Amino acid sequence: MSLLDSAIPIVAAPMAGGPTTVALSIAVHGSGGFPFLAAGYKSVEALAEEIRQVRSVGGFGVNLFVPSATTITAEEYRRYRAELQAEADALGAELPLIPRSDDDDWDAKIDLLVASPVPAVSFTFGLPSHADLARLKKAGTTVFASVTTPDEARAAYDLGADALVVQGASAGGHSATFDPQRTIEETSTAELVRAVRSVTPLPIVAAGGVDGPSAVRALLESGAEAVAVGTLLLRTDEAGTSRTHRDALADPAFSETVLTHAFTGRTARGLRNGFIDRHEALAPFGYPEIHHLTRPLRQAASQAGDPGRLHLWAGTGYTSAPDGPATGVIRWLTDAV
Ligand SMILES: Cc1cc2nc3c(=O)[nH]c(=O)nc-3n(C[C@H](O)[C@H](O)[C@H](O)COP(=O)(O)O)c2cc1C
Repeated sequence: MSLLDSAIPIVAAPMAGGPTTVALSIAVHGSGGFPFLAAGYKSVEALAEEIRQVRSVGGFGVNLFVPSATTITAEEYRRYRAELQAEADALGAELPLIPRSDDDDWDAKIDLLVASPVPAVSFTFGLPSHADLARLKKAGTTVFASVTTPDEARAAYDLGADALVVQGASAGGHSATFDPQRTIEETSTAELVRAVRSVTPLPIVAAGGVDGPSAVRALLESGAEAVAVGTLLLRTDEAGTSRTHRDALADPAFSETVLTHAFTGRTARGLRNGFIDRHEALAPFGYPEIHHLTRPLRQAASQAGDPGRLHLWAGTGYTSAPDGPATGVIRWLTDAV
């Protein structure tokens, strides 16, 4: 297809925190799809190594987290830390006393992608500066902005983005919203694509809630040039999804997904579990401070095989996520295109 250098209009959505791997990206590319590497939470050295390994296959992209200004106060942090103490004690985890922030190594990652350009870069959580966007475009990279409303789409267009990832509320993982405190409306991805189409001429990759070929077809019919899938790849052989997360996705005891900011201070969709039920009501917004606060607890939960205290990111289509090779998922979805 013309927007992306791939045989079919199926994109492997970036999934930071483990699920996206070099092996998954190579498998998706080999099946005719277009993979995005996930730069989030990764050191610039680790990202450079992944790019080196994927570059030889051809078309691929890299996804970056745009740093956001924090909103949390020291008192809110202290109070939430105290609330989580019993959860941490149950797992033998140590919660950081001092709020920690970071910019996910933004400057170093942009410098890497300018010095060693890749075919596509996408952003989530906001827009880059005009200067950073111009540097990437000058390097020959196609720049995608992830958006969750028509207003965000217009802002991306005005800034000079080449294309959009339009992410609906049914998507697994963090919402790409520019405003971390915004209530995410439960609009369908197809409706959102149509709304964005009416305000910008930019090409669209639609993401969120895909559970099979008919969902892909509906999104292409709504005006998207390509469709991104995340959740459907989470249980595949090549994904780096933890055992606890994989098992929960296939466990009928988890019967729905919800939007939550209890784990990271930023709204994300995941399987509803005990941690969310116990803490959602009082959890403050504040990314990345809450992400860093709960991280040791989540790591311990993953190691202990405790899905009740782990962020189990999943989109609404999770019951259709198959195991087996990623090629199987891409071939299955190809029936729609
Ligand atoms: C485990 C997980 C991690 C994710 N990490 C990222 C990320 O690093 N960057 C990003 O832009 N989107 C991320 N997302 C969102 C996906 O890119 C994509 O929008 C979403 O998976 C599409 O919806 P679906 O899961 O229903 O297919 C993540 C999603 C999941 C499930």
